[in-house]
Amino acid sequence: MMNWENRCNQALAVVKRSVSPARYLHIEGVVQTAMILATRYSLDPMAIRMAAILHDRTKELPKPQQLKLLEEVKPDLMTLKSPALWHAKTAHYLAIHEFQLSEEWAEPIRWHTTGRENMSLSDMVLYVADQIEPGREFYDPKDMELAQNNIYAAMKKILQAKLMFTMQKGQPLHQDSLACWNWLCTSSPRVYEA
Ligand SMILES: [Fe+2]
Ligand SMILES: [Fe+2]
Repeated sequence: MMNWENRCNQALAVVKRSVSPARYLHIEGVVQTAMILATRYSLDPMAIRMAAILHDRTKELPKPQQLKLLEEVKPDLMTLKSPALWHAKTAHYLAIHEFQLSEEWAEPIRWHTTGRENMSLSDMVLYVADQIEPGREFYDPKDMELAQNNIYAAMKKILQAKLMFTMQKGQPLHQDSLACWNWLCTSSPRVYEA
């Protein structure tokens, strides 16, 4: 039987050594925010906690190491051309191979930069928590309220801002983000009711 409390502490220690103090603070903020949302949406708290701890595990690794991990991941072409997206795929890979997370537990890490069509509640909780944690310079407590009232609406608001920002910079939009946007705009159930 795996002791997940110890696993969390091990993961935190590894992450602390792999990222800057500022990024570590961000990760602590994401963990805290994601845990509140996990309770709100009746998700497995330990699964969300591990995913939140590990979501930026590879973000500050030296480039050669990132590229080596990418070879294992074999991402799509658009991801390959967008270094900002690499760490979601490589951190997902390490969560499984370094920390023995199940596919299910690791999945939110994989989608935390692009989103995707048919996101699970866990996927959305990590995606949203990553963007609205208290350490963000554009932190707004109203976003947390929205996330607690309707995670789909929070997801849509954040993704919209990200897509517009990316377009304003003249950069391409990843197909998974576009699929996510269309899914949020057109599919039911986009309103989560307790
Ligand atoms: Fe990230
Ligand atoms: Fe993050």
